[in-house]
Amino acid sequence: MTKLLTIADLAGGALAEVLELAERADLGAPLAGKGAALVFQKPSARTRNSTEMAVVQLGGHPVYIQKDEVGIDTRETAEDVARTLACYHSVIAARVMDHDHLVRMSNAVSIPVLNLLSDKEHPLQALADLLTIKQLVGRLEGVRIAFVGDADNNVARSLAHACGEIGAELTLAGPEAYRLKDAPDFVRQVVDPLEGVKGADIVYTDVWVSMGQDAETAERMAAFAPYQVDAAMMAATNDAWFLHCLPARRGEEVTHEVIESPKSAVWRQAENRMHTARAALAWLLGVR
Ligand code: CP
Ligand code: NVA
Repeated sequence: MTKLLTIADLAGGALAEVLELAERADLGAPLAGKGAALVFQKPSARTRNSTEMAVVQLGGHPVYIQKDEVGIDTRETAEDVARTLACYHSVIAARVMDHDHLVRMSNAVSIPVLNLLSDKEHPLQALADLLTIKQLVGRLEGVRIAFVGDADNNVARSLAHACGEIGAELTLAGPEAYRLKDAPDFVRQVVDPLEGVKGADIVYTDVWVSMGQDAETAERMAAFAPYQVDAAMMAATNDAWFLHCLPARRGEEVTHEVIESPKSAVWRQAENRMHTARAALAWLLGVR
């Protein structure tokens, strides 16, 4: 069954198709009279709201489900949760602690399963990132993107694989201990943040402590301290746009000055979460 758990599920031109759908004004109502189960094991502002509204725009009815209501592998198995939700819904979307839960849920049902963020990937975020970059720069191929900070997290991993699909140039700048472990060959990884952003068209960062990593806060804050995106770093770029998946911790990975600057496109990026969620859902449901 069609699924979107990682960017690899959009190989072979599908990623470009989804981006094209995101810019199409009318995708019809492939969810008319149908439900979409949205399961969240972690908090969310953008992903929950953008996905709920995307379901509504496609004619469907979203049902928001908190983690204790279904209890993946606690109240019942991931497979039984998915089979149950598939009795009522035409798509299951989930934000999970453990990526393997998504894989197991997807393998248990014949309806599409969509990753709303896992410890491994955040594919809907990468789709919104690319749409935003395309709108800002006018193209994706050859655009120079620098991701600064925690290069081994879910957002960076999905962005890296997405850049590979559409031919953008990606540099990851971060501490040696937090390099992206399974990085595609084309990705450049550097330790020096200024070397990383030099000549970049886009500077992107994310929090230093992701959801579920609270126990590592002290060591992460120390390791990432040299990687704060500030005005001096932005001055080393090709007049770059600043992007952040949000939520941001101002004064940690980015200064207030940079995120509020005219070159910050974080709110357009947040809005694009809805347009790309709508496109991804439509694509999963067979719209081309
Ligand atoms: N960027 C993003 O996924 O935000 P939320 O955690 O608020 O959904
Ligand atoms: N890397 C962050 C992204 C939040 C949208 C996290 O997983 O917490």
